[in-house]
Amino acid sequence: MKASVVLLPGDGIGPEVVAEGKRVLEAVAEKFGHQFEFSTHPIGGNAIDDFGTALPDDSLAACKTSDAVLLGAVGGPKWDDPKAKTRPEAGLLALRKELGLFANLRPIKTHAKLLDASPLKTELVRDVDILFFRELTGGLYFGPSGRKPHSSGEEAFSTMLYNTEEIARIVRMAAEASKTRQKRVTLVDKANVLEVSRLWRQVTTQIMAEEFPEIAFDVVLVDAMAMYLVSRPRDFDVVVTENMFGDILTDEGSMITGSLGMLPSASLGSSGPGLYEPIHGSAPTIAGKGIANPLATILACAMLLRHSLGLENEAVAVETAVNRVLDQGYRTADISSGGPSIGTREMGDHVLKNLA
Ligand code: IPM
Ligand code: MG
Repeated sequence: MKASVVLLPGDGIGPEVVAEGKRVLEAVAEKFGHQFEFSTHPIGGNAIDDFGTALPDDSLAACKTSDAVLLGAVGGPKWDDPKAKTRPEAGLLALRKELGLFANLRPIKTHAKLLDASPLKTELVRDVDILFFRELTGGLYFGPSGRKPHSSGEEAFSTMLYNTEEIARIVRMAAEASKTRQKRVTLVDKANVLEVSRLWRQVTTQIMAEEFPEIAFDVVLVDAMAMYLVSRPRDFDVVVTENMFGDILTDEGSMITGSLGMLPSASLGSSGPGLYEPIHGSAPTIAGKGIANPLATILACAMLLRHSLGLENEAVAVETAVNRVLDQGYRTADISSGGPSIGTREMGDHVLKNLA
């Protein structure tokens, strides 16, 4: 197979982890006889510095004509001024919107050998395997917002806005995915308070009853879900929720596995290239030191192979290689629980060795 992959290393540790992801994709191409063509483009804070915008036109154009996009991370203290004209995050949000990536898949899966890395009790996190579907192009992130003068100073508003179609398409995608898993879907909302959540509940309940009668379906309020994620995470299979709830819950969920450094994500639309990224941020305090954990990015590459290129065997090969490396005891600092650790490049080397 021939495929073009756009690399968007971004800021902070982004370039270091994307370099390892690229090496893994190259090794997969070699081993399985594919041809992957790579091109690298700016996004985020460095793009603001060089081009005055977090998502230069050329970067967006390259993404649009690619088969898949691998992103590192955007942001850092250098671009955190609240008065700045634009922020690195704006580049990521624009990319999601422009590529129509309405579904953000975030698997929260514990590894048997890494249970100690979790701040939660081992017996609680063993065998957790949750797949979050976070809505990604609607809600508070994209609804009408603004500021106006107020007698006390200013007044600001952000609006959570969803229509039937925006809800239906991600619910269908989540329910489809649950068919090859435990056949359970949980909707997370705040329907006891928010009108927009009542629409989510109405649309989701109807779709699940009419189109997916064989899938078990339940509903949990978002505040309760925040508790359940740390008290009984094993009870969930596929979870679907709106943009901001999903943002918060998936960061919380990542702690079940112990390290943000282990978690990949895929952002998909109904057609066109998908966007793959580690869910950790740019980690500016460790940037450039060569100690970042590349496994989330490498696992994101597995998702890229699976979801955008349809290469299931290749995806499994990468995931198996990562599992082996962990079984062999290799750890970067973030998952070493204070024990011996190796660097980013070395970790990449071990994955490559196991892939071969
Ligand atoms: C994420 C991040 C982004 C988000 C930021 C960087 C805009 O937190 O992907 O979860 O809020 O969506
Ligand atoms: Mg987030």
